Amino acid sequence: KRIDLLGVATASGASVRGCGMGPEALRVAGLIEALIDLDHMVGDHGDLRRPQPEISTNPSSGRLPDERKSDVLSLAQRVSDAGLGILDEGHFPVFIGGDHSIAMGTVSAVARHCLPVGRPVHVLWIDAHADYNTPDTSPSGNLHGMPLALLCGEPGFDDSFTGDWLGRIDPRNVCIFGARSVDRDERRLVHARGVDVVDMRKIDQLGVVAALAKVIDRAKAAGAHLHVSFDVDSLDPAIAPGGGTLVPGGLTYREAHLMMEMLHDSGVVGSLDVVELNPFLDHGGKSATLLVDLVASLFGRSIMGEEPGPMEFASEQ
Ligand code: ARG
Ligand code: MN
Ligand code: MN
Ligand code: MN
Repeated sequence: KRIDLLGVATASGASVRGCGMGPEALRVAGLIEALIDLDHMVGDHGDLRRPQPEISTNPSSGRLPDERKSDVLSLAQRVSDAGLGILDEGHFPVFIGGDHSIAMGTVSAVARHCLPVGRPVHVLWIDAHADYNTPDTSPSGNLHGMPLALLCGEPGFDDSFTGDWLGRIDPRNVCIFGARSVDRDERRLVHARGVDVVDMRKIDQLGVVAALAKVIDRAKAAGAHLHVSFDVDSLDPAIAPGGGTLVPGGLTYREAHLMMEMLHDSGVVGSLDVVELNPFLDHGGKSATLLVDLVASLFGRSIMGEEPGPMEFASEQ
């Protein structure tokens, strides 16, 4: 498989600084080596970032919300265009953040890639949060809590959020997996639009295998491209402390690995985000290292052999 990494070194969508260093931490933790060890070809496109230094991206430095918004949107546009280029080449994009607002661009790229051939896009959003706020429902105003609402066409976003770069997805093809912190009005929206929410209670009752198998089967039956958006805060804070919006009661080490192995075997995954890693809050690279291991599992690492499985990823045909 040919894998193209694209870093997006930004924290403009978040209120806690530090996840702009996420891409570099994942490289230091051995992301590229892990993929090469699995016999993949890896191209590194480097990092997109705002032209000014990171100090001025401090959300509490008095920067106007408008400035953070224009940062997020200009990066989303660049990510969308670069991601589309990678997908149109037939390569598998791995987007490394950066806060979760970068998914405005990554999912747009997938939607634009699939639209001309009429291929449905399904999204597996592995996250403690729903990230389905609009500017009207958001309690924080942080854009990393809004990407799904924008992508699903919710009202409440002004004209600066539109453009050729923006792709659209059907909320009924979205599964939010691992949720345990959903805001009141956000919850109402998610229900109203028919988003599938596999919250922690469902995971406790059904187990990750049954819950995830449903998502995979639906994507397979639809002939869909499955985009996986992995937020580090989906994991339990005890195993992944490197995030700015941690919530107790997350996925365990073994649940997360099993999910990645199942996703690999499914062959339906065509693109991946790894977001919200905050190396400044991480403990000695613990979260970064875990994320690299999880990505490796998604790309075919297994206990009894590190060869990619028999299933080819759908995006490669
Ligand atoms: N729901 C909260 C908000 O809208 C938290 C969102 C956290 N999102 C994230 N990508 N970590 O602000
Ligand atoms: Mn390429
Ligand atoms: Mn998120
Ligand atoms: Mn989250």
